[in-house]
Amino acid sequence: MRSNSLIEKDRAHYFHPVVPIRAHEKRGVTVMQSGKGVFLTDSEGNELLDGFAGLWCVNAGYGHENVVAAATEQMQRLPYATGYFHFGSEPAIELAAKLAELSPGDLDHVFFTLGGSDAVDTVIRMVRYYFNARGESSKKHFIALEKGYHGSSSNGAGLTALPVFHDKFDLPMQWQHHIASPYPYRNEAASSDEEIIAQGVANLKAKVAELGAENTAAFIMELVQGSGGVIVPPEGYAKAMQDTCRELGILFIVDEVITGFGRTGPMFGCEHEGLTPDFLTTAKGLTSGYAPMGAVFVSDAIYQAIADAAPEGVPFGHGFTYSGHPVSAAVALEVIKLYEGGMIENSKKVGAYFEQQLKTLLDHPVVGEVRAKGLLAAIEIVSNKETKAKPAKDKNVAGRLATAGYENGVIFRAFADDVIGLAPPICITEAEVDLLITRLRATLDTILDVEG
Ligand SMILES: Cc1ncc(COP(=O)(O)O)c(C=O)c1O
Repeated sequence: MRSNSLIEKDRAHYFHPVVPIRAHEKRGVTVMQSGKGVFLTDSEGNELLDGFAGLWCVNAGYGHENVVAAATEQMQRLPYATGYFHFGSEPAIELAAKLAELSPGDLDHVFFTLGGSDAVDTVIRMVRYYFNARGESSKKHFIALEKGYHGSSSNGAGLTALPVFHDKFDLPMQWQHHIASPYPYRNEAASSDEEIIAQGVANLKAKVAELGAENTAAFIMELVQGSGGVIVPPEGYAKAMQDTCRELGILFIVDEVITGFGRTGPMFGCEHEGLTPDFLTTAKGLTSGYAPMGAVFVSDAIYQAIADAAPEGVPFGHGFTYSGHPVSAAVALEVIKLYEGGMIENSKKVGAYFEQQLKTLLDHPVVGEVRAKGLLAAIEIVSNKETKAKPAKDKNVAGRLATAGYENGVIFRAFADDVIGLAPPICITEAEVDLLITRLRATLDTILDVEG
């Protein structure tokens, strides 16, 4: 049962991440109780289709007993082992080797973190260390995309380009820069795929020219811009950005915290365009959210340069108590077995069906665009399909959609800028996709008044 005392305790003591605080206090928390497959049950017994896989992380879906058993076994045998002092644990070592085997290019070295934000932070520190070690210590500037999200650590939040992560936090810092998002639906200067790609390349070149290549360290991007509204760049965009980075002598960092582990079909989004970044960040789907963990993949060339840089016997000064936590690593190994045992194939197959079915919503009067890459998608709401006008702010589209969705038995991300974000568990079946679409249509029907 929904417990009033839980709500009161939450209101009084639980400082929630990324919520409007006073609105949350007023509304009260919604407590989730259990999950199975793609469904969640809340504390009042309502069953909900989780169209967002928790926070785009429960890729394998809920309730996998083999994952629970692996965590239990590891906890009983050895709940903790550090990676410091030359120590390690079997699952962390096996996982590093497995990830190196799966990774694109020569990303053969894996540094474990607790999630995505500290993965991005780790990359920033490694990039600095790398250039200082090479005697190129003027290379300090980082470039990212507008509308990008790279976590909310003190450094990473400045690479993120969403206003709520900057305002009153004194961000971005003077070494953090942003160039325009490709955002095909609302790109005023370019329309065809080729034009959008050329625009991205030109913007990156112009920014590096302004900063000086000798002062620019790296460019970071998501393959699909998740928190910025699930913006899908044209095929070939990321590869063109990678080529430009190589031409300009700056590092290319791909943030696959969302797109990793089957979210867009293949194990890594990099596979779509054969990308070989210098660093790759992952988290979320790595453990399917069953335990916290992130991983930074480092190219062999960069690893070797970092390893050679410190004087003999002097440690590389970066790490976390829980880097390579054995329980999280055991969970990740088990989750990867699920991915390799059929879920990646399912994601590719059902992802195509999902995109096709989602497009049937384009006939809805308030739907301006549907965009998808595998099981990662968005529906953009407009008040006028011709002009792409945004609904009036006082229509409170996001708030109403979230409430109506919940009442219709579906959870999705209702972005503040009138975009519905979707990322269901990749174990989803075609029948469950049909149910998701039916519930989404019913939900869209509740905001017909935004039209016109
Ligand atoms: C692309 C991307 N990078 C980094 C992060 C930060 O990850 P975390 O919330 O695990 O710190 C996220 C989280 O949503 C993300 O989407």
